[in-house]
Amino acid sequence: MFQTGVDIEDISRFENKTLESDSHFLNRIFTKNELDYCFSNALPAKHLAARFCAKEAVVKALSNIIDKNISYSQIEILKKENGSPYVNLLGCGEKIEISISLSHDREKAIAFAIAKKID
Ligand SMILES: CC(C)(COP(=O)(O)OP(=O)(O)OC[C@H]1O[C@@H](n2cnc3c(N)ncnc32)[C@H](O)[C@@H]1OP(=O)(O)O)[C@@H](O)C(=O)NCCC(=O)NCCS
Repeated sequence: MFQTGVDIEDISRFENKTLESDSHFLNRIFTKNELDYCFSNALPAKHLAARFCAKEAVVKALSNIIDKNISYSQIEILKKENGSPYVNLLGCGEKIEISISLSHDREKAIAFAIAKKID
């Protein structure tokens, strides 16, 4: 049985965040790999917002699959060579297949997740 999750966020929530001034906030949510990717782009806020959405979407999808709480930093969003995003679920201890898709425009970011427990 597949489970789904979706989330949408204002990109403005992540604007003006810097690695220097906002490290506590950023490190609580994002992994180093994610921060390296977001801050390598000209407009980090839209990539941060999209990853935040992806984490929320994955939490929603997983809430119908596993009982334990998963923190944002355990849901790492990485990218394949062709640019498509995928989830590296850290320290979950369960075999779960997850597929995600992200999008962002000038104001909003959105992400959709599908998850399935592998027996
Ligand atoms: C993928 C593509 C449609 C993205 O469209 P877009 O309107 O520029 O971007 P959106 O804002 O909707 O989405 C951006 C997100 O798409 C995702 N993305 C990028 N490339 C992707 C791909 N190949 N597949 C799936 N998702 C992709 C990324 O997560 C990106 O966000 P991020 O940089 O923060 O990680 C566009 O880059 C494209 O056409 N690429 C070539 C696709 C391709 O490989 N075609 C051949 C096979 S069909």
